[in-house]
Amino acid sequence: MIERENLKEVISKEELSSRIAEIGAEISNAYNLESVVFIVVLNGSFIFASDLIRAVDIECEVDFIKVTSYSGMKSEGKINFEKDISTEIAGKNIIIVEDIIDSGNTINFVKEFIDNKNPKSLKIATLLLKTKIAKLSFKIDWVGFEISSEFVVGYGLDYNQKLRNLNAVYRLGGVN
Ligand code: IMP
Ligand code: MG
Repeated sequence: MIERENLKEVISKEELSSRIAEIGAEISNAYNLESVVFIVVLNGSFIFASDLIRAVDIECEVDFIKVTSYSGMKSEGKINFEKDISTEIAGKNIIIVEDIIDSGNTINFVKEFIDNKNPKSLKIATLLLKTKIAKLSFKIDWVGFEISSEFVVGYGLDYNQKLRNLNAVYRLGGVN
């Protein structure tokens, strides 16, 4: 059990909602009157995605992909592909929605997977980016917050599948 007093708040509920409102407005401006398909990377991104799509006012669809690479606080390096999208995305504007980019393995895999389906355009929105760790050969279009390499939980992010329901982002003090 993780005790509540071991959780140190890193990003507050208010900071999350104001930053997501900004990103939503930027996305709405970027696509003007064109529609977009949000591809949400499960499980961690579901809360960010649900707030982000309500912060945009363009026509959109939502689909989900599920990949895993993490166990506890460690990235395993190997990607397990668990669930495909079912939307036809060739010729459409796609935005991949990620909770956090750590090593970059997951987003590298998902980006290539979606690119191979020939979308009209492909952009990426991530709530969090661990700048010191991520190895990326492309830019991330929208980053909510850059954070240090510490392990964080809450607002969709888990520690062994728990703590996703916290409404802010916390560091696990005393555990890492
Ligand atoms: P990457 O493949 O190393 O970039 O890790 C990406 C995935 O690992 C994310 O989509 C998360 O689901 C998970 N992850 C990475 N860092 C954290 C963290 O600090 N807390 C919770 N989950 C994380
Ligand atoms: Mg994720």
